[in-house]
Amino acid sequence: MKFFIDTADLKQIKEANDLGILDGVTTNPSLMAKVGISGEEAVMQHYKTICDIVDGDISAEVVSTDFEGIIAEGKKLASIHPNIVVKVPMIQEGIKAIKWFTDNGIRTNCTLIFSAGQAILAAKAGATYVSPFIGRIDDSSWDGMELIAQISHIYQVQGFKTEILAASIRNALHIVKAAEAGADVCTCPLSSILGLLKHPLTDIGLAQFLEDAKKFA
Ligand code: G3P
Repeated sequence: MKFFIDTADLKQIKEANDLGILDGVTTNPSLMAKVGISGEEAVMQHYKTICDIVDGDISAEVVSTDFEGIIAEGKKLASIHPNIVVKVPMIQEGIKAIKWFTDNGIRTNCTLIFSAGQAILAAKAGATYVSPFIGRIDDSSWDGMELIAQISHIYQVQGFKTEILAASIRNALHIVKAAEAGADVCTCPLSSILGLLKHPLTDIGLAQFLEDAKKFA
C-alpha cells in the first residue's frame, strides 16, 4: 500500500518525507486555505514547491465545476510537473472532464467519493485514483471501511485499473483497516502516520533495554 500525506503544510510534508516511506501528497482547497495559500499564482507556486520536496504523485485539486473550466485548470496544474495528478470532484461535469483527461494522457484523482456507484463511474471514466472519504462516512454513522472493501471487490471482479485511495483518514487504526480492506493508497495526516509507530509495550521494552545496557557500559 502506498502512503500519501494529506496536507499542504510544508513542514509536515518534509517531516513525513524524511521518514523515507512517503509515496505522494494530496491536498484540497481547505488544506491550502489552512496554511494561508490563496490566489492562482500562490497555489501554483505551492504545488511546485511540494513537487520539489516529494518524488511521488501530488494531487492538485481544481475549483471549477464546469467542463471547460475544469479542463483549463487541470491542464495548467498538470503543466507544473509530471507528478501532478489532477483532482476532480465527483460531479457530472467532473466525470466528463476525467474522461477527457484520460484520453489526453493527464492522470486524475476523483474526489468526494461516498458510494460504490460513484467509484464505478470514476473508474469507467479512467480515473487514476478514486478517493472515498472514510472519516466523513464514519462521521455520518455509516461504515467507511465497508465502502473500501466493496469498491476493492468490484474493481477486482471487473478488472478496473483505478487505484483506491482511502482519504479522510483520522487515525492509525483507519490506516490498518484500509490496508486490510484493500486500499491501494492511504492519504493521512502526519499524526496518523506517526500514530502507527506507537505502542506502550515498545516504550516500556526500550526503556528496559537502555537501562540494562548501562550495566555493561
Ligand atoms: O483527502 C480528503 C481529506 O482531506 C478530507 O479529510 O478530514 O477533511 O474529512 P477530512
